Amino acid sequence: MALKRSLILFPMLTLLLLALAWFETSLCQGPRALRFRMQHMDSGRGPMGNQTYCNVMMMRRGMTRGRCKPKNTFIHETLPLVRAICGGQSVPCRNRTRHNCYRSIHPMSTTFCKATGGSRPPNCRYITYPTTRRFIIVACEGTPLEPVHFGP
Ligand SMILES: *[C@@H]1O[C@H](CO)[C@@H](O)[C@H](O)[C@H]1NC(C)=O
Ligand SMILES: *[C@@H]1O[C@H](CO)[C@@H](O)[C@H](O)[C@H]1NC(C)=O
Repeated sequence: MALKRSLILFPMLTLLLLALAWFETSLCQGPRALRFRMQHMDSGRGPMGNQTYCNVMMMRRGMTRGRCKPKNTFIHETLPLVRAICGGQSVPCRNRTRHNCYRSIHPMSTTFCKATGGSRPPNCRYITYPTTRRFIIVACEGTPLEPVHFGP
């Protein structure tokens, strides 16, 4: 009887642990991956010379609440392409507590936004730098790996 019960319990426990592990990774990784997309993904064509792009986008993407995020880069590529960076060329992370930094295999279209000195929320003001194509580095986490941080 005891053996029978453990024969049933064991697979159930294994299943439960697997479910917990899956739940945990999706809970822990999810928000950071979502935040990365919110802060860095803009798959459209970019500012195309529009000087108010950064003012509008930094506010729209929630980076001007409480403080004006000083710098941010938007990536004008598709999400699958940006995700694929995590399966590409591994490079050391500058921050030693971070792991899994990767550099894009191809240059990617990006726009850099920088807060002007003295801008304060809710009126954060940014310089919209011209869009450039450059190799980018991201830190990835989770299973499957997803970008969670921009930069080395
Ligand atoms: C400039 O870019 C912002 C953000 O994408 C957009 O909301 C705004 O309409 C654009 N302005 C012009 C003149 O195209
Ligand atoms: C280094 O990475 C850790 C983990 O991602 C982060 O919490 C910490 O703020 C980072 N430190 C610096 C100086 O960026």
